[in-house]
Amino acid sequence: MAILPVRIYGDPVLRQRAAEVKSFDVSLLRLVADLRDTMHAYHGVGLAANQVGVLERVLVVDVPLDEEGVSRASHALVNPVILERSSSQSDEEGCLSIPGINEDVTRALTIRVRYQDEAGRSVTLEAEGYLARAIQHEVDHLDGVLFVDRLSPLKRQFLRRALESLARGELPDGYAPPLHPGGAC
Ligand code: CO
Repeated sequence: MAILPVRIYGDPVLRQRAAEVKSFDVSLLRLVADLRDTMHAYHGVGLAANQVGVLERVLVVDVPLDEEGVSRASHALVNPVILERSSSQSDEEGCLSIPGINEDVTRALTIRVRYQDEAGRSVTLEAEGYLARAIQHEVDHLDGVLFVDRLSPLKRQFLRRALESLARGELPDGYAPPLHPGGAC
């Protein structure tokens, strides 16, 4: 299992649509394990395969369900499809691929999502609140969509320079990704 480097805004892989997974084999299990290791090492609550440079429709989420984070919702979703969205909520969002930028994003409050687990079994999950938000954010990644795309034009204009800096490889002060393969984590 490995911690992989998370791709940063400006990397074209973040703008590509990931392909459906057809074989549920050992390489899929390895990808899911690597996504989980990487998400935890970066202290994220979700990660999509695009973010580690893999164009397959796989994402992981690990969202705290209480203030202390004792109770968590942890899932790996393969080929997820959001079947229903209802109500809406606005809350602050960030992204491991867009360090240093956090903004309020409006998304559905509750969703029903169908996916396959790592063994290829079909699963339907109802999610709300933070978990629903994380899943919507990660499914967007699989379609090459980033949370900043969902902001108002005015807000995007305001962030333009910060995003251009990231795309040039200039990372925010204090950005310290975990060590990569072979590292201490
Ligand atoms: Co993200």
